[in-house]
Amino acid sequence: MKILVLGSGGREHALAWKLVQSPSVEDLFVAPGNPGTAALTLTNGKHVANVALSPTYFPAVRSALLQYHIDMLVVGPEEPLVKGIKDFCLHDPALSNILVVGPGSDGARLEGSKDYAKGFMSSYNIPTALYQTFDADHYREACRFLETMHSPYVLKADGLAAGKGVLIETDLPQAREHLKEILDGKFGAAGNKVVVEEFLDGIEVSVFIITDGIHYKILPEAKDYKKIGEHDSGLNTGGMGAVSPVPFAGNQFMKKVEERIIRPTLSGLQKVGCDYRGFIFFGLMNCAGDPYLIEYNVRMGDPETESIVMRLQGDLAAACTALKNRSLDKTDLTVNSDHSVTVVTVSGGYPGSYEKGYDIEGLDRVRDATVFHMGTAGEQKIKTAGGRVLAVSALASTSEQAREKAYRELSRLSFRDMYYRKDIGEDLMNM
Ligand code: AMP
Ligand code: GLY
Repeated sequence: MKILVLGSGGREHALAWKLVQSPSVEDLFVAPGNPGTAALTLTNGKHVANVALSPTYFPAVRSALLQYHIDMLVVGPEEPLVKGIKDFCLHDPALSNILVVGPGSDGARLEGSKDYAKGFMSSYNIPTALYQTFDADHYREACRFLETMHSPYVLKADGLAAGKGVLIETDLPQAREHLKEILDGKFGAAGNKVVVEEFLDGIEVSVFIITDGIHYKILPEAKDYKKIGEHDSGLNTGGMGAVSPVPFAGNQFMKKVEERIIRPTLSGLQKVGCDYRGFIFFGLMNCAGDPYLIEYNVRMGDPETESIVMRLQGDLAAACTALKNRSLDKTDLTVNSDHSVTVVTVSGGYPGSYEKGYDIEGLDRVRDATVFHMGTAGEQKIKTAGGRVLAVSALASTSEQAREKAYRELSRLSFRDMYYRKDIGEDLMNM
């Protein structure tokens, strides 16, 4: 089997790292990939190859799919999915046989439109925050609804806004001001509509499944650390670390997630006629032991994937292949009981402005952890090339040991102005 993974970050490195372990994979390409993906080797001894292209420029993706005789396209980020990469393949006779792991644009609306996602949750009685959606013609009504809510106020631009479209504001006049700014175009077309919703007080957890549209397998759950500063202070980032398993997502909680959220989602998708085959990421809030769905993502999380793959047992390529004839139930994907901790190193200044192009030292000295590349460049000499640079994932039989290992191995790495949080997983230690 020949696979192309679309994307370039730590998530795609982690997916490729897991896929190369499958003996059925003859060739693996990552487009555009990174120096980490280029260093992977398949079980047949072949090297993984990067293909330079933009994942949202479909004609280039098409050329790569044909040139390398690809059987399976694994889509990492949401943007190509929301823009319809799967539909593009299905409607092209030369590509229609390729299995796309990821939904069509119909399923991708669950992430591409918050209003659609909230409507879907309401239709299928999936527990979520109370909400209403407004457009620019209904600013007054939006303000009136806002006034019926309690502080903090949650405002969400409807469309994809590169992770920046959610505003949480404690002050009502400020919230009104933000509402106006979004409707006036602060996030471009993504803010043509705004979802105003109730604030959920709880603790967040990410739950992931892979589904063939009928069957599903629950992948390891994870908690990610979004803030730049220790003890969740400062600005939001793409994610500064992750841990799996999550102590407050035990069997009882996960049973509720399955019954109240996962199954209604899959039956809802069937009812709306959506043939969803791929990953679903449920962004949940645990409110006093009950799960509420904050959002859907139609792809895996980053850096959660870098923690999750460490705990996945079985053949991921075979599980993906099984999406084609809906035989996921016959595959052997399971989760081991180990603990994984992922710590992300970032460029000094991130998530604000930062410099790139600094030499990364010590990659060859890391032994007891897996280093996934997030934002790096170069061949002989690897350099920083993004805000988030490397994700260091360690696995051990306890969370304490996994943490200790991740930080010990991370200390072998260095680049100018390197920063990382020193408290990943600390809050969960005594739970
Ligand atoms: P999103 O961009 O949808 O992932 O939202 C960003 C973050 O905002 C989430 O991960 C939560 O931490 C927070 N958030 C979103 N909606 C709510 C809500 N209704 N109540 C509390 N926090 C929320
Ligand atoms: N770590 C959150 C995300 O991937 O959206």
